[in-house]
Amino acid sequence: MKKVSIIGAGNVGATAALFIAQKELADVVLLDIVEGIPQGKGLDMSEASPIQRFDVKVKGTNDYAAIADSNIVVVTAGMARKPGMDRLDLMHKNAKVIEDVSRNIAETCPEAIIIMITNPVDVMTYHAWKITGFPKKRVIGQAGVLDSARFATFISMELDVSVEDISPMVLGGHGDEMVPLPRYTTVSGIPITELLSQEKIEKLIERTRKGGAEIVGLLKTGSAFYAPGAAVAQMVEAILNDKKRILPCSVYLDGEYNIDDIFIGVPVKLGYKGVEDIIQVNLNSDELSALQNSAQIYKNGIANLYKK
Ligand code: APR
Repeated sequence: MKKVSIIGAGNVGATAALFIAQKELADVVLLDIVEGIPQGKGLDMSEASPIQRFDVKVKGTNDYAAIADSNIVVVTAGMARKPGMDRLDLMHKNAKVIEDVSRNIAETCPEAIIIMITNPVDVMTYHAWKITGFPKKRVIGQAGVLDSARFATFISMELDVSVEDISPMVLGGHGDEMVPLPRYTTVSGIPITELLSQEKIEKLIERTRKGGAEIVGLLKTGSAFYAPGAAVAQMVEAILNDKKRILPCSVYLDGEYNIDDIFIGVPVKLGYKGVEDIIQVNLNSDELSALQNSAQIYKNGIANLYKK
């Protein structure tokens, strides 16, 4: 049986664990610094398995020894946003958490693939990559899968069509400057530019960009977790089942799209080895400058984080 460990047994971590277990993708280990929470959630989830009929083990722990030999380590440890906060406001506090977590992963799971969720995700993925020294194909941030799911949800609401027929594409960093691509977003192969007015599309893009903040504003005490948890499970499935899915993820760019030394969301091929290819789609000048503008924000974030 394959093994996925999740660092941080909070809202996103526990939700991801449940989706992964329900799909029987792997045995799951939940790890947290708080004693009792991962053990309690792990046991509670195991007790759901006879009813939901999933045949994998879910275990909670505070000890990194338990994550040894994981195929994938998902990192959700750290603070979530509160109303009025930008994801970048979490950077310094969460960077300390990611430093600790990354050192432990490098020591106990040197062959694992890391999926980073903790925000600001593009900067935290870079940070984990630096600290672990893992090859770039094994360090991946979750951004585009979630943002694309939000875009697809809003398109389906607007057009009153099944979410199953929507194939969305959102690139860029996981923040207000993300880059939804209407030309590459289709409903059963039909670009949404043929189905919706420019004005309507702009509204859906704006709602997608602010999609995380919309949930934070409603919840007030934390941020989204169902869709982020589902997005984790989709990425885990693509990797463990070697599906070679093309999904937008935050990955290390080394000149692709004329961007370098940064993690940012672009379409990639996800398979058993992690990031197996980076797809360079043709972007017009507006789309490319929007992507480069988004990248610059995270370049500045990284410069700020590593400032002496
Ligand atoms: N090691 C392990 N776990 C930690 C550490 C650490 N050093 N520091 C904090 N944690 C744990 C907390 O104890 C908590 O259980 O991380 C968990 C975070 O859970 P929540 O507060 O519920 O936050 P959540 O909504 O899950 O969001 C986690 O994902 O989407 C992002 O922006 C979000 O950065 C946030 C992260």
